[in-house]
Amino acid sequence: MDAKAEAVIALRGVRADLGSRPVLRGIDLTVHRGEVVALLGANGSGKSTAVRSVIGQVAIGAGEIELFGTDRRRFRDWARVGYVPQRTTAAGGVPATVTEVVASGRLSRTRFGVFRKADREAVAHALELVGMADRAKDNVDALSGGQHQRVLIARALAAEPELLIMDEPMAGVDLASQEVLAHTLREQVAAGTTVLLVLHELGPLEPLIDRAVVLRDGCVLHDGPPTPAVGQHALPGHDHVHPHAPAGAEPIRTGLLS
Ligand SMILES: Nc1ncnc2c1ncn2[C@@H]1O[C@H](COP(=O)(O)OP(=O)(O)OP(=O)(O)O)[C@@H](O)[C@H]1O
Ligand SMILES: [Mg+2]
Repeated sequence: MDAKAEAVIALRGVRADLGSRPVLRGIDLTVHRGEVVALLGANGSGKSTAVRSVIGQVAIGAGEIELFGTDRRRFRDWARVGYVPQRTTAAGGVPATVTEVVASGRLSRTRFGVFRKADREAVAHALELVGMADRAKDNVDALSGGQHQRVLIARALAAEPELLIMDEPMAGVDLASQEVLAHTLREQVAAGTTVLLVLHELGPLEPLIDRAVVLRDGCVLHDGPPTPAVGQHALPGHDHVHPHAPAGAEPIRTGLLS
């Protein structure tokens, strides 16, 4: 099989209910090795639930999920997966330094939790990648929201994952920091990392994205090239199928490619 065709993430017919509401209503989503896929959709469309189902934080009611070709329920190789959760305003509670938080992302790569030189270097490198090396000793409580987000990304990068899943990494991050993150991501992608990103708009990441999957109300509305129109269609108020789309065709192929 062509290496490019290997599915790193595969969801087939995935359904999930939360609080007795159907949130995912039969989702198919495949991310191949080396691909960068953006998951778009309005608030509440199920994006976070979809990625949380992949990492096992949400139980699914039907369908199947595979990671690196292994059923998610049997998958144990979590060091291969880096995950950056959607930011919440709640602070962690336990005081920790920037280095400690990033080092926690490296634990899965250590033997018995003992940090060796290579582990310490990976932590320092991850902090450099996101431009936070100068804040290494600071308490995370002393960081701004955007800086905190960069630390969470460094934590995911510290394990040098083959698959990086990020839930709205650009939310609440200023343009300069977005450029830093886009640069970081570009380097990861150049090194062969597979990426699944939840985004609200394509923004500075657009040139990196191979494919956009748009969710609406727990279903896949679009799976194809990332056009600017796809980004707009992800926004509330653009939840419609375009009237000029021919019957049976992909519902949204407007903008540059139409
Ligand atoms: N733990 C939960 N219990 C009950 N309902 C939930 C839970 N988590 C999410 N939901 C509901 O599931 C739906 C999808 O939520 P989800 O967080 O996946 O959306 P999203 O696409 O990530 O939205 P956003 O853009 O706001 O992050 C929403 O209607 C939400 O209220
Ligand atoms: Mg979300």
